[in-house]
Amino acid sequence: MIEQFTSAKSIHDRISELKRQGKKIGFVPTMGALHFGHMTLISKAVEENDVVVCSIFVNPKQFNNPEDLAKYPRTLDEDLKMLAQHKCELVFVPSVEEVYPEEISLGYNFGSLELEMEGKHRPGHFNGMAIVVKRLFDIVTPNRAYFGDKDYQQLLIVKKLVEIEQLPIEIIGCEISREPSGLAMSSRNKRLTNLQKNQAAVIFKELTHLAHEFKSDLKWVDELIKDAINRVNQLDDFEVEYISLVDENTMLPYQNGEKMLNPHLFAGVKVGNVRLIDNLPIIV
Ligand code: PAJ
Repeated sequence: MIEQFTSAKSIHDRISELKRQGKKIGFVPTMGALHFGHMTLISKAVEENDVVVCSIFVNPKQFNNPEDLAKYPRTLDEDLKMLAQHKCELVFVPSVEEVYPEEISLGYNFGSLELEMEGKHRPGHFNGMAIVVKRLFDIVTPNRAYFGDKDYQQLLIVKKLVEIEQLPIEIIGCEISREPSGLAMSSRNKRLTNLQKNQAAVIFKELTHLAHEFKSDLKWVDELIKDAINRVNQLDDFEVEYISLVDENTMLPYQNGEKMLNPHLFAGVKVGNVRLIDNLPIIV
């Protein structure tokens, strides 16, 4: 049985009781519309902790596009079933008022981590994400929290947030779950037509191609990325926002001729009005 909470105080009190009994708490924050990728985070948390808590909250503060917020898929009944099947014991499903009883207007500075890619293309997104994650951490007080490599820039920013706020929480990254086609699983895939979903495999295909090209030598970087962008843009309704080669630790872009220790490719692509992201490290 899964215990469901809508009040911040009641889940906080329940978790304090579990912690007094010496239980370690693993936490998986989500926005719902759960899929297999989310479940890999839950399963890892179940393996590594005594009790697992999942939150389902579509956080208005991190949406810079009102249409994206309005159309974000919401599938609570299926989500709860999936969580129970995967041995998640506590779920927190708060209202907006419960999470934000009063306005929080913090302005975090994540330095170079937020300058490129999602930071550039979704102004305010990371600050809104960090505000909700801090609030959820304060409510849930987990020992460990699990985040997907799918949102790699988010993962680094959450690690930085924990450092800035000096929270006693271990942040654990989990590898990307993909469809058999290579497409990274995402709640937003539910908004694609079957044709678009098949075509969207091109994103991973192009990242894999570039990773292969750059593996032995960072040569013709701008040209090869430009070609990849053009190939994706040729598909109906596909519009690349960015394909970028950045350093995995700083999120700063490749400069011509530079030796990169940890090169990592990132993509943001609009398919109609649905935004998809993906990334792939280059193992040199
Ligand atoms: P959401 O998009 O629901 O994702 C919840 C967690 O699942 C994130 O850590 C995300 O990286 C991970 N995830 C999603 N798809 C994945 C995949 N294909 N493989 C592996 N992990 C995957 O990310 C958010 O929600 C929000 O920003 C949140 C952190 C909850 C704050 O509102």
